[in-house]
Amino acid sequence: RVRTAILISGRGSNMAALLAAARDPGFPAEIALVLANRADAGGLATAAAAGIPTAVVPSREYGRDRAAHEAAVQAVLEAHGIGLVCLAGYMRLLTPWLVERWAGRMLNIHPSLLPAFPGLDTHARALAAGARLHGCTVHWVTEAMDAGPILAQAAVPVLPGDDEAALADRVLAQEHLLYPAALRLAAGGAVAWPAPAAVLSNPLPGSPPLP
Ligand code: GAR
Repeated sequence: RVRTAILISGRGSNMAALLAAARDPGFPAEIALVLANRADAGGLATAAAAGIPTAVVPSREYGRDRAAHEAAVQAVLEAHGIGLVCLAGYMRLLTPWLVERWAGRMLNIHPSLLPAFPGLDTHARALAAGARLHGCTVHWVTEAMDAGPILAQAAVPVLPGDDEAALADRVLAQEHLLYPAALRLAAGGAVAWPAPAAVLSNPLPGSPPLP
């Protein structure tokens, strides 16, 4: 099983979904570490309660010195013998230094159908744009933010009367299914970076079946 770290900044619901999936001994990834850049990240308590080692590398203490913060993160990952990293609501831009070290071994989940709506406030922006379909994406992390090769996507409809919270909830339910499925593929060696195309998606009604 691939020793996997999950990096979080907040409540960690995607982290919890990954932990639940990895409880199955047949799952190809073992969650060996949950690392947060904030001591108040809610997900830390969830991870500790599940018996997963946790670490905090507080970005605030490093101020603008991203390099020093990332060097500290990297040292913790190495100390835990980590082979794969999952960003799950980790709200930090990474420098090329860290990205290079984890090329092909770092995944991110993003709450939109990339390449639409990279960055923040994706649900509000999808509503404002009048998007009829929205969703989430798991991609390999590269230097450009939210722009690495796509591994998996799940789509949801935008329904009349949706507000940001309703749409976010509908997407989040899909995130919790998609991220474990994508990690299973990546850790199991079924896909390698750069993935030629999305390899996993939820079929929409009327779309041709997946090969
Ligand atoms: C998730 O919706 C995730 O896709 C998003 O933050 C949320 C974290 O929730 N990530 C980003 O916006 C990355 N830029 P969680 O802590 O409950 O998993």
